[in-house]
Amino acid sequence: MKERVQTQSGFVVRRMRPDDGPALDAVFAGMSDQSRYQRFLVPTPHLLTSVRRALLDLSDRHVAFVAESAGERRPIGIGRYVVTGPDEVEIALGVVDDWHRQGVGRELLGHVVRAATEAGKHDVVAAVASDNHAMMGLARACLPGVQVAVRDRMLCLCAALPSVSCAAA
Ligand SMILES: CC(C)(COP(=O)(O)OP(=O)(O)OC[C@H]1O[C@@H](n2cnc3c(N)ncnc32)[C@H](O)[C@@H]1OP(=O)(O)O)[C@@H](O)C(=O)NCCC(=O)NCCS
Repeated sequence: MKERVQTQSGFVVRRMRPDDGPALDAVFAGMSDQSRYQRFLVPTPHLLTSVRRALLDLSDRHVAFVAESAGERRPIGIGRYVVTGPDEVEIALGVVDDWHRQGVGRELLGHVVRAATEAGKHDVVAAVASDNHAMMGLARACLPGVQVAVRDRMLCLCAALPSVSCAAA
């Protein structure tokens, strides 16, 4: 996989590293209270140190990508997966509000899906708030056959991982 992928939409995507704390902080800072709630499913005015540490604890079982604006390389979004079962990954995405609806989430999801597929995983889940129309719309656009289910009393989007990422479609 290329280290940095230039898109035609004014941003680049690269693999996230454990020392990417500043990128994590910048993306979090650029998300509104509502976006943070949609991302973490609870009101999240600040990133707890323990949560921040976990979000940077990257490995072959926890893979993340950062989107950066093409010019000044400002971090504008992060997409990740965590291995949650022999065949399954859980994904999460966060895009700064100023960049919503400009293809960043789609591109990040494509990278996450492709990496999970290359790692041999077959199923993807994402925990979502019931009013998260953006994530539901993105999943419908990128994950054919995605279904809404309740797991552990949480609303989840569930899909089989496509063999070709939506970013390449
Ligand atoms: C969900 C999120 C990542 C989408 O990122 P984005 O960069 O705005 O999405 P994109 O521009 O790539 O949109 C791709 C497609 O998703 C769908 N979509 C995106 N936003 C949507 C919205 N508000 N309503 C309905 N569909 C939407 C559309 O099909 C869109 O394609 P289109 O613009 O050609 O119609 C972003 O809204 C976000 O960070 N939200 C807060 C955090 C969050 O909800 N994370 C998900 C929890 S796992």
